[in-house]
Amino acid sequence: MQILPIASGKGGVGKSLVASNLAIALGQAGKKVILADLDLGASNIHLVLGMPTITKGIGTFIGNPDIELGDIIIDSGYDNVKFIPGDAEIPGMANLKSSQKRSLIRKLSSLDADYLILDLGAGTNNNILDFFLSSSQGIIVSAPTLTATLNAYLFLKNAVFRIMSTCFRKESDAWKYLENLRKDGKSLQRVYIPKLLERMRDIDAAGYDEFELRITHFHPGLIMNLLEDPKDGHKAQKIRRSCKEYLGIDLEHLGIMYRDHLQDVALNSRLPIVVYKPQSVLSQGIFRIADKILTKYDDEEAPLDLQDLDDTYTAADMEAEIDFDVKIHELETLLHSGALSHGDLIETIKIQQFELSRLKKENVLLKSRIVKAINAGYTV
Ligand SMILES: Nc1ncnc2c1ncn2[C@@H]1O[C@H](COP(=O)(O)OP(=O)(O)OP(=O)(O)O)[C@@H](O)[C@H]1O
Ligand SMILES: [Mg+2]
Repeated sequence: MQILPIASGKGGVGKSLVASNLAIALGQAGKKVILADLDLGASNIHLVLGMPTITKGIGTFIGNPDIELGDIIIDSGYDNVKFIPGDAEIPGMANLKSSQKRSLIRKLSSLDADYLILDLGAGTNNNILDFFLSSSQGIIVSAPTLTATLNAYLFLKNAVFRIMSTCFRKESDAWKYLENLRKDGKSLQRVYIPKLLERMRDIDAAGYDEFELRITHFHPGLIMNLLEDPKDGHKAQKIRRSCKEYLGIDLEHLGIMYRDHLQDVALNSRLPIVVYKPQSVLSQGIFRIADKILTKYDDEEAPLDLQDLDDTYTAADMEAEIDFDVKIHELETLLHSGALSHGDLIETIKIQQFELSRLKKENVLLKSRIVKAINAGYTV
């Protein structure tokens, strides 16, 4: 079974959309899929799938030893896709014990399926990081905005740090050093991983070797969502460069997806976009990602070589150009058909102006934070 955890640093960038639609696309390709809503405390996949309110889910399972995992697996209503709901209310779920997490991951990975897709919450708490690291091929979703790309990078930085902290024996000097860094969130943000690793090697060579081994098998993939323009796709290169330079990991590009207004209609109709409009640019983007996953090497230990990884970025840039052309062509057809009134056009421009001014404000805020950070002697 391949486990595909879907994470992001920033919320609202499309994890649940990717998780649910990817599950359906892989199911349509004849693969047995289990989709689990692990956004504990804020689960909403059932809404994306168009299912009624859920009464029993992961929370009930964890909190009740009499319930088997099998009792909470339900049919999603889509070919070959089974669904494990989160829960409407999950008390204390934010603080899962390590043993509970390990047992849950073990039970999930012993289920009978070709793919297990985990929809995770936003952020970098240890639950999310541990579920993400239950596979070496986790998927990170980002939007092209500065905050989203920065948070995608910071998520991966936290993931690398988490791997590191599991490689050193508990209570050893190296472990204590890392724990202190972790407790003081600011130091962790500031820390430069290659330097930290040098230090770790000096303190604990055996732990360092284990880390080296684990990090060479860590092959996360990236999806850029909510593109407006082919240029937005280039932000993927920035995330890749930072990860290579500062974290020592290389990301594979799994593909791009444009912002598509049809998604709002699909959501209101309580249908996943790949079912509501399989021919839409957004659905085609999701099917393309599913195809890449289907044709990916079977041996998850075998890394792509540098040329292959480079090619995934070239392919994604081309996809961004092609999808953009299709979108423009669709728009032109719509304009010439007379179906789009002047009122609609004015409304669209107003929305875009509003979005632009929001982004400008965000930009100013971030600039001032960067200046402050530089003045405080901050390094990456
Ligand atoms: N490509 C897209 N085009 C249009 N709308 C989109 C696209 N991707 C996501 N959305 C919309 O953006 C919103 C957030 O998406 P989604 O819930 O999948 O994000 P998320 O990362 O799971 O959020 P959270 O962090 O809250 O779990 C939803 O309303 C979704 O329909
Ligand atoms: Mg979500």
